[in-house]
Amino acid sequence: MSQSEGNIESVLHEDRLFDPPASAGAPWHIGSLDEYKALYKKSIDDPESFWSNAAEEMHWFSHWRQVVSYEAPDAKWFVNGTTNLCYNCVDRHVENGFGDQVGIIWESEPIGDEGPEILRLTYADLQTEISKFANVLLDKGVRRGDVVTIYMGMIPELAIAVLACARIGAAHSVIFGGFSSQAIADRVEDANSKVIVTCDGSWRRGSVVPLKDNVDQALEILGEGKVRSVIVRQRCKNGIDWVDGRDTWWHDVMQEAEADCDCVPLDSEEMSFLLYTSGSTGKPKGIHHTIGGYMVYTATTSKYVFNLVPDADQVFWCTADVGWITGHSYILYGIMPNRVPTLMYEGAPNFPDADRFWDIVSRHRVTQFYTAPTAIRAFMKWGEEHPKKHDLSSLQVLGTVGEPINPEAWMWYHNVIGGGACPIVDTYWQTETGGHMITPLPGATSTKPGSCTLPFFGIDAAVVDADGNEVGANEGGLLVVRKPWPGMLRGVYGDRDRFIDTYWSTIKIDSKPVYTAGDGARRDKDGYFWIMGRIDDVINVSGHRLGTMEVESGLVAHESVVEAAVVGMPHEIKGTGIAAFCTLAPGYEANDDLRKKLREHISDQIGAIAKPDMIRFTDALPKTRSGKIMRRLLRSIAAGEVEVNQDTSTLEDFTVVAKLQGGDES
Ligand code: WT7
Repeated sequence: MSQSEGNIESVLHEDRLFDPPASAGAPWHIGSLDEYKALYKKSIDDPESFWSNAAEEMHWFSHWRQVVSYEAPDAKWFVNGTTNLCYNCVDRHVENGFGDQVGIIWESEPIGDEGPEILRLTYADLQTEISKFANVLLDKGVRRGDVVTIYMGMIPELAIAVLACARIGAAHSVIFGGFSSQAIADRVEDANSKVIVTCDGSWRRGSVVPLKDNVDQALEILGEGKVRSVIVRQRCKNGIDWVDGRDTWWHDVMQEAEADCDCVPLDSEEMSFLLYTSGSTGKPKGIHHTIGGYMVYTATTSKYVFNLVPDADQVFWCTADVGWITGHSYILYGIMPNRVPTLMYEGAPNFPDADRFWDIVSRHRVTQFYTAPTAIRAFMKWGEEHPKKHDLSSLQVLGTVGEPINPEAWMWYHNVIGGGACPIVDTYWQTETGGHMITPLPGATSTKPGSCTLPFFGIDAAVVDADGNEVGANEGGLLVVRKPWPGMLRGVYGDRDRFIDTYWSTIKIDSKPVYTAGDGARRDKDGYFWIMGRIDDVINVSGHRLGTMEVESGLVAHESVVEAAVVGMPHEIKGTGIAAFCTLAPGYEANDDLRKKLREHISDQIGAIAKPDMIRFTDALPKTRSGKIMRRLLRSIAAGEVEVNQDTSTLEDFTVVAKLQGGDES
């Protein structure tokens, strides 16, 4: 089990129950625990009727013939139904007479004399812009089933590009703008993507991230001819290089594009997108999601978990980037079908000042606010005077996602941001699950700081031992899901074995494989889930998943490093920081200059989020007699604990431990 083993803090908070308020503006969809329990039981006993009711709230061009067909690990949902994600996010609202309602509110990072730039795009505006861009993609030769790579900043055109793909049945692969050219190259190659949509640059904390330069470098790595077209949206007017015949300006092609382009009726099981995420081994894997099931799952979780109600003056704001699953599901695909405006903010939480988020909440009267524990810890550090400057009384529901939230951060969020009056939904889920899996419902579930509480409807989550038997209250075990759900991944792109090995090989129940999330968990006496952390070599840095192997491969790719071991270490803001232990090639000196070079090197190889927080140089890594790196020992060393509890009897060389512990730090 990983670093958060034995979460004493959370045990102490177990009996602090926070009951939901009677209402928070709009009436609660689910108003009591009994109501939740009754519906949960129905959803587990008869998933078909629960999910077909949910799917009836969406538009289908042709009705499904079967709700689900399942032979583990392969599920099909809403079999033979045809639908379209873009239609359900946008066109349906126009058809129903809501064309002039606002679908997306966008705010720029830069603040001019008149304040930030704010755009309010109605469903009718979106329909026009998306249709035009869909025609641009078609004109560039994109066809149903092709993968379009999108590497942009948080601007409305990112949403337009994503939804334009959905409109014509192209799959998108959105790459977070913080990833490096090497990371882009890997993903473009794996997805065999021929068209890239990008920007000249994006704004981040007042500086320009050179997105187009990164794409150019990625295409250099890949070699000529791999990618046919690069469409560039101008944003920062930073100078960029241009390749004639390959590169096109967004504004040029959009000017000529027709505004008519029908949504294509697509099979429920066609691929909607790929999203790359880190695993415990090798390169990131492309998580494959579908259309019908993903749509129903994200829209239904959005509705209940955030209590979305159309025409109730709600403004939903998720602070994630669209480049992560949180942004896919809870900025766009799950929120928009609920006909509640979704807010997209371009930049950093502390630009120009540490109160930027609260300024946004108060000016736009945000009702649902969804962010990550790492951000909350940063806000705590910056001080409560920043939120206190603003009127946050519009807030109804607060959400968190990405990593376990420490009870101190939970309490701060509850009191300082929510004024003690807003339910907090601590949503546990993964890129692979498409949407929320274990989460409170704001009007129904009493919450406990640090617990993601109870499973969502239809989610048969359990904590089991290695034989698949449920463990007793407060015993640790593996988190599994025993029944299929509509939002589940359908595969790892191009790698069936990896799909099976990673998710379906650890636990079998009645000789059938069950989905294994890769997290350790326990349930308390009330059945509440407490996530205890990853059980594989994946670490969660600021709510973003990183494979330790990925960082290790990055380090040894540098000429100075012979061998590297990477582990997580406690970090005040990030939750988990990255500690790297490296042995050096002859002729290289262990010093701060080299540390700096290695950090930059990792930033180039993967992205800034993967930069080690601490690099230690050592003559040798501690290994067991069978040659396995003693990661547990390295974790203790990185955490600054004394080595008393460590079983070092199998260490090959005790002097190594001494050396490591005396090692210099950055
Ligand atoms: C991993 C998934 C889901 C979107 C963001 C991250 C951890 C996620 C929670 C939570 C405790 C959490 C798990 C999970 N995680 N949410 N509320 N409480 N842990 O997506 O990159 O796919 O990472 O994040 O370890 O497996 P991801």
